[in-house]
Amino acid sequence: MHTVAIPMLHADAAFRAAARGLLAAQIPPEDVLWQFDTGGTDLFAGPAATAAPGNATVPRAYVELMGTVVWHCDPERFARLYALLWRLPRTAGLMTDRGDPALAKLRAMEKAVRRDRHKMTAFVRFREIDSTPARRRFAAWFEPSHYITEMTAPFFATRFGDMDWIIQTPHLTAHFIDGKISFGDGVTNPPLPDDATEDLWRTYYANIFNPARLKVKAMQAEMPKKYWKNLPEASLIPGLIADAESRARAMQDAAPTLPPLRTDRVMATLPHPATPDALNACTRCPLYRDATQAVPGEGPNDARLMIVGEQPGDLEDLAGRPFVGPAGQLFDRIATEAGLDRGAAYVTNAVKHFKFTPRGKRRIHQRPDRSEIEACTWWLDAERDRIKPKLILAMGATAMQALTGDGKAVMKRRGTVESMGDGTPVFITVHPSYLLRVPDHIRAAETESFRQDLAAAAALLEAIVADEKGPRQTGTAPS
Ligand code: URA
Repeated sequence: MHTVAIPMLHADAAFRAAARGLLAAQIPPEDVLWQFDTGGTDLFAGPAATAAPGNATVPRAYVELMGTVVWHCDPERFARLYALLWRLPRTAGLMTDRGDPALAKLRAMEKAVRRDRHKMTAFVRFREIDSTPARRRFAAWFEPSHYITEMTAPFFATRFGDMDWIIQTPHLTAHFIDGKISFGDGVTNPPLPDDATEDLWRTYYANIFNPARLKVKAMQAEMPKKYWKNLPEASLIPGLIADAESRARAMQDAAPTLPPLRTDRVMATLPHPATPDALNACTRCPLYRDATQAVPGEGPNDARLMIVGEQPGDLEDLAGRPFVGPAGQLFDRIATEAGLDRGAAYVTNAVKHFKFTPRGKRRIHQRPDRSEIEACTWWLDAERDRIKPKLILAMGATAMQALTGDGKAVMKRRGTVESMGDGTPVFITVHPSYLLRVPDHIRAAETESFRQDLAAAAALLEAIVADEKGPRQTGTAPS
């Protein structure tokens, strides 16, 4: 029997070296006893040398699978990986055989590790500790289900490269000091200081929480309870869940009185061959049947910027005003930071009725389809006719579709300017609700990109307006 001890640190490299040697010596899986050394982080601990290194080549699919599964907590993982490796030259097409139970088991383990890594990137919460004027320092405590700290540390090094941090876990501590990652032993639940950023997390979470959209099961699947104890915002969850139903009902009860008046007022200003309440009487597509009311755009008649979203959401449908719900609030905040004045813009949607599917007491947003978007461009055109904006900001695929006739590849086209048939420039960006849906670990970066798009749109508008006022002075003045 050959005994191989794999150390905690660099377990992937250790397994690779050991497996290569065993394979070269033709040692079958049943003759190998795999051990895992959870006792420390001794960099010089390594697998017992059982045989000379070999040169076996293995499919990339196996290498990738192995690179993830070695971090699983199953004590059998090394034996399973080696058994599969052993079979590879003997079983044609093994890596693509979905019916192979050994491979299926390893794939499930791979998925579990990936998921755990994702949770770590989303749920690690740093607290500031003894920072110096030169460099800020942070510490976090996290309890992963698998041995993922080493494989996940580079993510945090990239994301928080401008500070020193440590992430303590029960099996390993990752340090990032002066730009270098190193590892030490694990700890059990270290005391961490309270931190002001915890309040920020709570405020942010309470603000993005939409009671009308609450799905407790889906939320708990995304943010399993085992992580709650280390998440500052989790203390709010039970209260928010308990209040959600009454808050959603209150929103619904409070709603339908104002809007028809508003709609009439706005419609009265449309130079359209329609009656003032034509928008509310619109039956150009079936969406009018279930919506509370049509939601017209709003803003000054001489607005230079027109902002176009997708369609009213749940709260907009009840309030009769565009962008008043969570996506609208997020938009307002980022627009202010970017120097884009929503108050001076005309804000509207490509589709004027809320499209949803009822689920229990809730109404679940559904994207409008092409025919609904096309039916509604009649109203968007009427608004464009009236406002004659110098620039249109299209947020998301539906607005892009309505304005340019092509709603594909938002991510590729974002930040660019396209032109409408009449020459009006259309600045393309993502929809703010995208920022509410993206995984936590990319939200900050995506929010920053959106902010930059809005700042670029504001700058472009300024340049257009300045150009219209007269050619700008460039170069040196003639003597
Ligand atoms: N999303 C939109 O596209 N428009 C709104 O008015 C609200 C949410």
